Amino acid sequence: MKLGVNIDHIATLREARKINAPDPLEAIFIVKNAGANQITIHLREDRRHIHDDDVRKIIESHQIKVNVESSTNKDIIDYLIKLKPHSITLVPENRMEVTTEGGLKIQNHTKEIINKIKDNGIKVSLFLDPSNDDIQKAKEFNADAIELHTGLFANLHLILNTNINQTHNKINIENPLQKYTASLEKLKDSAKFAKKLGLKVYAGHGLNYQNVSEIIKIDEISELNIGHSIIARAVFCGLENAIKEMLNLIK
Ligand code: PXP
Repeated sequence: MKLGVNIDHIATLREARKINAPDPLEAIFIVKNAGANQITIHLREDRRHIHDDDVRKIIESHQIKVNVESSTNKDIIDYLIKLKPHSITLVPENRMEVTTEGGLKIQNHTKEIINKIKDNGIKVSLFLDPSNDDIQKAKEFNADAIELHTGLFANLHLILNTNINQTHNKINIENPLQKYTASLEKLKDSAKFAKKLGLKVYAGHGLNYQNVSEIIKIDEISELNIGHSIIARAVFCGLENAIKEMLNLIK
């Protein structure tokens, strides 16, 4: 099982001050030394955290495999193609969201975008809700991999195992236990279905030190992309330790 560390929130902290620290470029050396397999960054249309020159500097440093998340925005895709990251993960984007909500809605033009990226020697993954129809389409449209959106599972895990619903960040989901079991089953079924079609299967969103044990039991999943929980833990114990703790859980 490979680990991609999403370092967007290092840039979020920098943007809280709009200065030049902390620098996400500095993080990649720590991510590499800690033993993670890749870094993931999201060049959002609103540039709320990672900026164009962050992506360029990180890719041009050639230190570690770089997976860039992007919407299907033509200008961003063209910019990324020139920089040639190892992979691009296509994600949905909505200007008001706090984080990526839901999987990509695959449309006819998605196929052209996938082919354009692949023609330039870059792997393509699609960030999808665990839906067999979407997974089938990903295969038909020639994607190399899918990343299953684990956000619902993670939110239900928080409701069932923490006091989040006694805080101001309450998550409103009825019958969480029933839905938790169903969400995990759905992830398992989707992972099986995708692997059978010959797609690589990744997972991410909301994964943390408490819930990751359930996801690593799904044999078909070969890569996790984890950001917020690792950066949150790094505030208390340092980035290298936070990554090593996660790697130990995964191994
Ligand atoms: N994978 C994808 C496609 C994402 O959009 C995100 C969030 O940027 C992540 C993984 C990481 O999610 P989290 O920060 O909740 O670990």
